[in-house]
Amino acid sequence: MTPEGAIQTSSVRTIEWVGEIDGYARLIDQTLLPRETVYLEVRDVETMWDAVKRLAIRGAPAIGVAAGYGCVLGLQHVADEKSVSEAQAALKQAANYLATSRPTAVNLFWALERMQKVAREAQAQTAGELKNRLLEEARAIRDEDAAMCRAIGQHGAELISEGANVLTHCNAGGLATAEYGTALALMFTAHENGKQFHVWVDETRPLLQGARLTAWELMQAGIEATLICDNMAAHLMQQGKVNLIVTGADRIAANGDAANKIGTYSLAVLAHAHNLPFYVAAPSSTFDLSIPTGAEIPIEQRDPTEVTAPAGTPAAPEGVSVYNPAFDVTPSLLIAGIVTEKGIIHRPDTDKIAELLS
Ligand code: MRU
Repeated sequence: MTPEGAIQTSSVRTIEWVGEIDGYARLIDQTLLPRETVYLEVRDVETMWDAVKRLAIRGAPAIGVAAGYGCVLGLQHVADEKSVSEAQAALKQAANYLATSRPTAVNLFWALERMQKVAREAQAQTAGELKNRLLEEARAIRDEDAAMCRAIGQHGAELISEGANVLTHCNAGGLATAEYGTALALMFTAHENGKQFHVWVDETRPLLQGARLTAWELMQAGIEATLICDNMAAHLMQQGKVNLIVTGADRIAANGDAANKIGTYSLAVLAHAHNLPFYVAAPSSTFDLSIPTGAEIPIEQRDPTEVTAPAGTPAAPEGVSVYNPAFDVTPSLLIAGIVTEKGIIHRPDTDKIAELLS
């Protein structure tokens, strides 16, 4: 049942561009979900940086889309009749700034580089022409992500058997992407294909993306879901109540080591101990073939208050020392397969990944 007054997941626009080159980015403020559905109108690059930093927009592919639109916002002040090199300089400044918002999701850097490559190679005669070309590119990043997520769902839905119990962590749904999601795309497609199954949703401390966002998205879609605390997964696996685990990823190294929300690695270890398949779902924009292994993935450290004051309520002694890494890395050896828009890479390794992505 869909809760009264709630928005269908498919009708929520995670992030979009409104208008033409002088327009703005509109995104749903995920920090307020599911309590409130508030859209932010982002009209400058500083506000976009802030939206990414404080997780108003979050999830690796969605951050990539935000980066593309952020670049466009950073160019708006350059008058149309100015030179191409002036626009290129403004773009570089915006891109360098946006690159400092969050370090782990490679989609951010992938999108910033894609925008700058277009700026270098475009045959524009004026800043105005280049600005329009870059808006087109930012829109293409969004639309391609949506298409990749649909394809991930098509390839991965077969992994969910009739009656399965799937466990997922964090939010890798429509809210984390342009639309439809990565890990949740498998579930949405299986559900659309008429399969009956059940999803265990890890609440995902400290910021509760599972409880707030994944549970909400699955309920909107009418998929049977049960919320659990992160520390309950081992117990469920021991009891035979989990058949497979599917998560998203923020950055996948050339050998298949995958960074995702903190707590993902422990699920992969648990899956291994219980002989359960652990899958990762991600588009090709989440792969970073420039780094050979996950050891090179920068792990974001976040504000201690996320741990000491869950949902804003103090829950720890004042002045306590806190460690708050936002992500961990799952070694590829623990990954049964990576579901991409091009197909599933079973037992991923450097050669298989290079072959599929080439
Ligand atoms: O800190 P977040 O909420 O941006 O972390 C998000 C995740 O870890 C997701 O699982 C990942 O980005 C994949 S989203 C399709």
